[in-house]
Amino acid sequence: MNILGIETSCDETGVAIYNSEEGLIGHLLHSQVSLHSEYGGVVPELASRDHIRKLIPLVQQILRNNQLTASDINGIAYTAGPGLAGALLVGATTARSMAWTWKIPAIAVHHMEGHLLAPMLEPDPPEFPFIALLVSGGHTLLIQVEGLGQYHLLGESLDDAAGEAFDKTAKMLKLAYPGGPLLSKLATKGTQGRFKFPRPMTDRPGLDFSFSGLKTFTMNTLQNTDQTPQDRADIAYAFQEAVADTLTIKCRRALQQSKLKRLIVSGGVSANIQIRQSLTKMAELENVRTYFPRLEFCTDNGAMIAYAGCQRLLAGQHENLEIHVKPRWPISDLK
Ligand code: KG4
Ligand code: ZN
Repeated sequence: MNILGIETSCDETGVAIYNSEEGLIGHLLHSQVSLHSEYGGVVPELASRDHIRKLIPLVQQILRNNQLTASDINGIAYTAGPGLAGALLVGATTARSMAWTWKIPAIAVHHMEGHLLAPMLEPDPPEFPFIALLVSGGHTLLIQVEGLGQYHLLGESLDDAAGEAFDKTAKMLKLAYPGGPLLSKLATKGTQGRFKFPRPMTDRPGLDFSFSGLKTFTMNTLQNTDQTPQDRADIAYAFQEAVADTLTIKCRRALQQSKLKRLIVSGGVSANIQIRQSLTKMAELENVRTYFPRLEFCTDNGAMIAYAGCQRLLAGQHENLEIHVKPRWPISDLK
């Protein structure tokens, strides 16, 4: 069974084909970074218009690249939320119209479930149950995962998501959009130990996160320096170290409480090397195995949506003809 996956929730147009027996057949991604960079962030209306321009050519290209035609596709999975309403509608209406024309089922996929299942695309995927840390631009979630659709939310961000904190801090350090990867690059030139940032909400019980205070801390620290390139690199280092430490402390707590021995980490921020290393080191000490998607599947992509859609279809789920998207959609609502 071949599932076409479509991702248009934010600033990447992603398409992929996943085969239920053979695995991932192919995937393509068009990034809108250059489109939004002059505005310093995603402009929703520009995002929607660009998805309209790119989506159908990408679908045609992926079919062509893999010598497939419409009759080889058995279902179309699309991101139905959470995300930008207009961007989601482009993917949803295109996917649903194609599915209707090709007389195949359409499957509405939760974007964060896509991230959660992305490590399943790797050669040695985790078995259920596990702890999932999902760290993207819009969400920071700690979830106890018992099986497909069995998600117990253990903790989440009460304000800025980890990726959002990276992006906002990067802006203060005068880095371009998207700031996360650029801040991480700057941090490689930073000096360890010069600044010590707080580890928010780690001194009390619980598994929720709060990263917005780090912005204020960054601003105050920056204003107390001459803002030389080295000052900025040292601040980037300390910020990244604080986020990595905070995520690691909360994951350790979740693993100890649940007694689970598998940790998956996914979402854009899981591409961060220092965060990966910090979590991997902690997990080794806890005798826990870690699973990350390959770097290109940490950030938004069509492959994770095709995979999630395939699992949902195999479980007997698909949509009726009504088209709706959910810009806000708690993952704990999934069944
Ligand atoms: O999962 P994703 O591609 O999109 C959302 O679902 O939000 O995550 C994007 C987020 C952005 O905030 C971006 O700055 C961050 O992931 N990000 C990183 C890195 N690569 C992407 N943050 C820190 N270090 C990175 N290497
Ligand atoms: Zn995402």
